[in-house]
Amino acid sequence: MRVICTEKSQILATRLARKLNVPLVDVKYSRFPDGEQYLASGELDDETIIVGCVVDNDALVQLLLMIDACEGSKNQLVLPYMAYARQDKRFKQGEPISARAVAQALGRGVERVITVNIHEPEVLRYFPAPARNISIAKGIGEFIKTLELADPLILSPDDGALHFARDVASANGWDYDHLEKTRLSGLEVRMAPKQLCAASRSVIIVDDIISTGGTIATAAGLLYQQGANDVYAACAHGVFTGGAYARLMATGIRDVICSDTIERGCSRISAVDEIAAAVNDADH
Ligand code: R5P
Repeated sequence: MRVICTEKSQILATRLARKLNVPLVDVKYSRFPDGEQYLASGELDDETIIVGCVVDNDALVQLLLMIDACEGSKNQLVLPYMAYARQDKRFKQGEPISARAVAQALGRGVERVITVNIHEPEVLRYFPAPARNISIAKGIGEFIKTLELADPLILSPDDGALHFARDVASANGWDYDHLEKTRLSGLEVRMAPKQLCAASRSVIIVDDIISTGGTIATAAGLLYQQGANDVYAACAHGVFTGGAYARLMATGIRDVICSDTIERGCSRISAVDEIAAAVNDADH
């Protein structure tokens, strides 16, 4: 078995190869004069774990090329983050089901797929290979413990992520709840006040994705108005589009943390343990 990765998942894949005690395949990347991507993989084994975070269109194409380059090996695809997963249905007539289009393209040529905190687990059915979603809730909980906060309150910004907040909180006996959110546009969200006991408490908002940061910024503002002592934000996938990380830190959020499913400077949680366990789970 060997691990191979795209450029966007070098750190996570290296951690995974070390954890599994298998070699990492060397890959050469370049571009043709017209901008098309090229890659050439080093020697493969009969079994390959392909790790590729799809955070943008270039990353998607690179991962498609890599899966094709691994033809002939028995492949497992680890998809730490999957862009387009939020367009998981046709919200309006004429729209694509983008998650399905991406899943169908990526799921060919692999024997199974592992996703991490995918936005909507229903998307798994779109992969042409068996697909399983794993969660890093435990890792987030362990990180929160290192902050040594007294009686923290774990909040999800909407009821869709409530199970994630519950999973982070329940293993540690912390309180959890959710806020109610209405999305006004791609950039704007409104958060209806809810009866929360945030006053004088340290609050950690947990979400699957921080993209524009609008959801977290609105939630944090509301919580500070309600007298929260400190507000932190933790997510699986730090997309941080349009300077979102810096903007959030400037709004008074104490800290913003994400995992290495997308490799960022604030990736202080690793998904490697959960991924290694899923790779080793022969029953899947
Ligand atoms: C939406 O349902 C997701 O769970 C996140 O809350 C959302 O994607 C965050 O987006 P943004 O950071 O742009 O508000």
